[in-house]
Amino acid sequence: MNETAMNQTAPSTDTSTDTRWVTITVNGTEQRKQVVPRTHLIDFLRDGLGMRTARVGCEHGVCGACTVRLDGDIVRGCLVLAVQADGSEVETIDAASDRGDLSELQQAFHAHNALQCGFCTSGMLFTASALLEEQPDATRAQVREYMSGNYCRCTGYHAIVDAICEVLEARRAAASSLATPIEETVNGPT
Ligand code: FES
Ligand code: FES
Repeated sequence: MNETAMNQTAPSTDTSTDTRWVTITVNGTEQRKQVVPRTHLIDFLRDGLGMRTARVGCEHGVCGACTVRLDGDIVRGCLVLAVQADGSEVETIDAASDRGDLSELQQAFHAHNALQCGFCTSGMLFTASALLEEQPDATRAQVREYMSGNYCRCTGYHAIVDAICEVLEARRAAASSLATPIEETVNGPT
């Protein structure tokens, strides 16, 4: 086959301009956009929607900086394609920060100085919020283990673990005081 014939018959392998429509609800607002299929969810948020709180670190699923919620589950936004999230609901730190669990965590992070540059913080907060749900009785060692997939380049790990443990302990104390019998509360312990 001569070169001219090859050029006429060879199928195009260039998919760089191929696009798909996706509709993703982000923080309660429906977003419909055309994306190149290889676009990752975190790039859709950051570059497509201009959300600067959507952080990109390693882009390989290692550091956890890109953590967001997808249909309620925490995911690494650099490992999910925008086309895979079509029809789903995404929550970023922008909307979540006023919710009870994240607000408690944010206050504890602030009190313990558990952030320096803040680059890892939204991912840390989302992962910690999942920990509060899944392991309310977690020990300090279990907190360290659970959070081990989120990297802090400023290495503030002790303060981050301190902050999460404080929220866990406060919640356990509140739960145990609610469980105290009314009679004991009124009359004092016997
Ligand atoms: S940027 Fe996604 S895990 Fe690092
Ligand atoms: S506070 Fe800077 S990366 Fe964690």
